[in-house]
This record gives sequence, structure tokens and C-alpha cells, in this order.
Amino acid sequence: MQEIKVTLTTQKKEKPAADKLGFGNYFTDHMFVMDYYADKGWVDPRIVPLANLSLSPAAVVLHYGQEIFEGMKAYHTPAGKAVLFRPEKNMERLNLSADRLCLPKVDEAFCVEAIKKLVAIDEDWIPEGENTSLYIRPFMIGVDAHLGVHPAKHCMFIVIMSPVGSYYKEGLDPVKIFVEQEYVRAVRGGYGFTKTGGNYSASLKSQEKAEGMGYSQVLWLDGVERKYIEEVGTMNVMFKINGEVLTPSLQGSILGGITRMSCLELLRAKGYKATERRISLQEIVDAAHNGTLEEAFGTGTAAVISPIGELIVGDEHIVINNGKIGETAQMLYDTITGIQNGLIPDEFGWVQEVK
Ligand code: COI
Repeated sequence: MQEIKVTLTTQKKEKPAADKLGFGNYFTDHMFVMDYYADKGWVDPRIVPLANLSLSPAAVVLHYGQEIFEGMKAYHTPAGKAVLFRPEKNMERLNLSADRLCLPKVDEAFCVEAIKKLVAIDEDWIPEGENTSLYIRPFMIGVDAHLGVHPAKHCMFIVIMSPVGSYYKEGLDPVKIFVEQEYVRAVRGGYGFTKTGGNYSASLKSQEKAEGMGYSQVLWLDGVERKYIEEVGTMNVMFKINGEVLTPSLQGSILGGITRMSCLELLRAKGYKATERRISLQEIVDAAHNGTLEEAFGTGTAAVISPIGELIVGDEHIVINNGKIGETAQMLYDTITGIQNGLIPDEFGWVQEVK
């Protein structure tokens, strides 16, 4: 494995109060950087003080969006150990995204080690406080200066970190979600399954519309028939109907969330019936009307488990579980965050210490 050169900052920043964090507003003292050149591969892995980047205004990422990213979190256990949650899954998904966006693949194990080293250096940035964690944002960009539409030959892989609280101001209180029937996020054959900035810029227009009406986020329908449920802006979505947990199957236009995967594994291990399949919006509306829609919730790294208290479908406001968190969402939240924070035994082997 290549050696990671470390240059520590001489100007450590003041840390924000745990109850003022919000999401993604503050950044730690250091970042990890490495460069890729088509003729050399990945070189010069380094941890350096967090600083602005210097890029050509012709850099590929600025014009054609050749970019991918990941989202993961570090936590402190009661024993004071800094831990990561399934980091190898994030690096696996990063390479899946890299393949689709014609970016170079990384050595997954090396990147996990680099992230652990970075977390260990900025460990005092892991916030102590309920519902807080250190959000880790690895990303890769194409930085060649040329305006022809071709994959970059010079790329950068960077990891920055941000102490965060809840993604939604509602915290674990149920959110209101607007079902988007005009715009679409992704189509099969596109890159909806990847974590790339384009998927999120495509969502801004609807997100703004939803927020303007007082709702937290948008629920996307499929891009072809606009009939089947895909995902919410920053999370996957699950429904509980008649005792069975349902979530849209991964068919190329939906992100394969690591929290989604962990919830499915957890549900099945606990004896719940958890099914991945196509789910039409009409099925959800019908279940709400006939009283079998018991719960709805989102799953994601940033959002963790986010109960959905209301779905807005056209003129209809569907209130779910009287606008309260349901037992399945609560169980998943307690179990996942309990494992992440070292409060309950990690029987699945999901948690890794950083040193
Ligand atoms: C995450 O859950 O890590 C995400 O990437 C969502 C983010 C776009 C806020």
C-alpha cells in the first residue's frame, strides 16, 4: 500500500456547539487528497490542512459534471472509540459510480484505510450529542483542462468531513413529503443508481417547489410511466402495508443505499417480511384508503431513518400512522444508531474501529 503523507495544520479551528450543527455547515481541519493520471494511476496520497482547491476554469467537472461522491459517518462509542459503519460498502459503491461516469476506480481497501487515518487525525471533531456524528464526504472529480467531451485523464479523489446533527430540522419527527408528478429524477439506462452530483442538481427544481409549499422533500416516480415509486430526494423509501415492509427494487434508476441494505438485512434477521419490488403510487394510495398503510419512512446515511407523516399526492394529503413514527421505523432507528454508536452489540460485524 502507498504511504500517506501527513501535513498537520498549524491553525486548528474552533469547533461549533453540538446543538448548532445542522447538516454540512462546518468542516474539520484536514482533508485527504490523491491524484490520478491516466499514465501513472493514483499517486501522492496525502492528508493536508483543509483548503480551497485550485482548478483550471476549463476543468471537466465544471462543464460536464464528471463527479461522484459518497456519504458515510464516524461515531464515538461510549468507550471513546471512533468507529465507521460499513465503510467497505461505500467504497464498493464509489467504484460502481466511477465505472458509470468513466472515472478511474480506486483501491477500495486503501481508501478505507485513508479515511480511517483522516478520521483518527480529526477525531476530536466527532461531536458528542444526541443525533450527531461526523459526516464523511469522499468525492472524485475530473480536472483536465479541455472542453472536448471526453473522460478526464487527470482526476482527484478527496475526502472532507463535517460534524453534523440531524439532516431534517424535524429530527426523528415525521416529515411531509411531496409526490412529484411533473419532473423526474432519473431513467433506467441513465445514472440514477450512482452517487453523482447530476442526480441532485436534477432534483433542485422540485425540491424548491416542495419546500416552497412547506414540505421537506420530494418522492420521485419512475421516469417512464411516472407510476412507480423510486426514492426520496436524499434517501430510499420503505412502506409497511399489512405487516409487510416494501421498498422499490433496484432497477438502475434508484440509489442502492447502504442504510437501505442494512435495514433490509436487519428486518429479515428479526423475522419481518421485507420485500423489494416495484411499487406503484396507486398501491400506496389504495392502502392508505383501505387502512392497510401502516408506516412509511426514508432510510439514508444523512437522514438515518426518517418517518414520513404525510404524503402529498396532488390535492390529497395522506396522513400516515396519525403523523407519528411507527414501531418499525423506531426499531430500525434504535437498532441502527445503537450499533453505530456502540450502544448495542454489533452482531452483524458492521462497525470498524478507526485505529
Ligand atoms: C447521504 O445520505 O449520505 C447522502 O448522500 C445524502 C446527501 C445528498 C445529503
